[in-house]
Amino acid sequence: VHGYPGELSAMLIPAQALQAKIGELARAVAADHTLESPPLLICVLKGAVIFVTDFARAMPIPSELEFMAVTSYGSATSSSGVVRILKDLDRDITGRRVVIVEDIIDSGLTLSWLVKNLATRGPAAIDVVALLRKPEAVKVDVDVRYVGFDIPTEFVVGYGLDYAERYRDLPFVGLLGEHMYR
Ligand code: PRP
Ligand code: MN
Ligand code: MG
Repeated sequence: VHGYPGELSAMLIPAQALQAKIGELARAVAADHTLESPPLLICVLKGAVIFVTDFARAMPIPSELEFMAVTSYGSATSSSGVVRILKDLDRDITGRRVVIVEDIIDSGLTLSWLVKNLATRGPAAIDVVALLRKPEAVKVDVDVRYVGFDIPTEFVVGYGLDYAERYRDLPFVGLLGEHMYR
């Protein structure tokens, strides 16, 4: 079924369930915007790249797409708390209604840093859509308006989520086998 035989321990969210949820999220975000003020989607590279392409295509209204690359993990398995900009936005977001698109909120450090950073640029609104959220993220004081799935504290990969840059290409979210990272 996938090209990583023996590396994953379980399926967490099958492709079909992901796509159904993305449709719901896309309709919810669209309902909060107008054609006069289309959302500017800010995809947080690299993890959110798979999600944003399905999400934008599931939205029943137009959106614009920008990319920002930040990293807090590198190849480690837990957040260092240090966020670095690897690629900044190409455009001014003054007066725009931006929607930050994230694959996962884990410790919440990346997102809370990003929201503060973007807020200094004068957007009309900042909302967040995250496909996955772990329990730890609830402690962070960031209002995440749209969440796909609340998941347990386990090592998840696939659908954009990597471990040492692998598994992003999987069309589903699975659990990485413990023998792969211990
Ligand atoms: C991952 C994930 C989120 C962030 C969440 O990105 O895609 O952006 O970590 O973790 P946090 O809530 O604990 O900050 P990563 O830094 O691994 O970069 P990547 O998207 O390029 O994989
Ligand atoms: Mn990321
Ligand atoms: Mg990563």
